[in-house]
Amino acid sequence: MTKINSEKSLITQESLKGRDFLTLLDYSSDEIAYLLQLAYDMKQDTLAGVMPPLLAGKTLGMIFEKHSTRTRISFEVGMIHLGGHGIFMNARDLQIGRGESVHDTGHVLSEFLDGVMIRAKSHKMVEELAEHTSVPVINGLTDIFHPCQAMADLLTIKEVKGDLKGLKLSYIGDGNNVAHSLVIAGAHMGMHVAVATPEGYEYNAALLEKAKKIAEQNGGSVMATYDPIEAAAASDAIYTDVWTSMGQEAESAKRLVDFKDFQINDQLVGHANKDYVFLHCLPAHREEEVAASVIDGPNSYVFQQAGNRLHAQKAILASLL
Ligand code: CP
Ligand code: NVA
Repeated sequence: MTKINSEKSLITQESLKGRDFLTLLDYSSDEIAYLLQLAYDMKQDTLAGVMPPLLAGKTLGMIFEKHSTRTRISFEVGMIHLGGHGIFMNARDLQIGRGESVHDTGHVLSEFLDGVMIRAKSHKMVEELAEHTSVPVINGLTDIFHPCQAMADLLTIKEVKGDLKGLKLSYIGDGNNVAHSLVIAGAHMGMHVAVATPEGYEYNAALLEKAKKIAEQNGGSVMATYDPIEAAAASDAIYTDVWTSMGQEAESAKRLVDFKDFQINDQLVGHANKDYVFLHCLPAHREEEVAASVIDGPNSYVFQQAGNRLHAQKAILASLL
């Protein structure tokens, strides 16, 4: 009989049942480590063709206010793997798109669904939705956070490098939603995290302080700088994201100028460790935030990283729902 790697882990997940997954600040470092290990184990199972129907008969509603390729598909496939169903809902087509309150929407969704995944413009709105929804609400990206992405990011580094503790992870680019969650995730795992942004595009100051505290508790560190070379130096992993996020398109010309010294190119990665891992949440803009030679080069794991959205989220879904 095929060994189920995740079997032991799944027995111990009761404390996560019914929780929302809005930010990685709501979880302890032990819980994040547990979810990562579960994701790793469930991936091994999946690759071996073992997919126990842990969520048989359960339905996840997936609301999108913004575009998505990876998030939509990985959640939908994840629910299929777990024996349940995912329902895609474009927020525009729901009554919430023409004014029904978040309060009423949350209560109504709770009548039908076992979980809600939402990609929204406003993190505040997602918090309000979670408040009025009795089933778990999972954040599939807001203006401030992208926690499911960060779980896939760490899973990828773990696969390539093994133990995460003590590794240097640098995020170079816009201090955005992806950056916020990534740095907190790295802090939970005791990594040494460096964030380099241009002036005016800094990582949120309050979140930086929280991330620093979490890192210290785990033997890691978090630092912010305006110098991309300082961040890249001796890195085990280098991460970037688009310079213009969804909804910021009007600023894109200015951002191209403001971020020009923050491109991840051969010169910059020359400061990292030789076997550094390059990561990007995707979608990417080649020759803007990253040179094609880097994202398409031998140190890039971006497609494995995208695929890991599936496995990271299956662990979250199986634990919460
Ligand atoms: N990385 C990410 O969230 O991709 P999508 O926007 O395609 O979902
Ligand atoms: N920072 C990007 C991430 C996309 C997955 C955005 O918000 O558009």
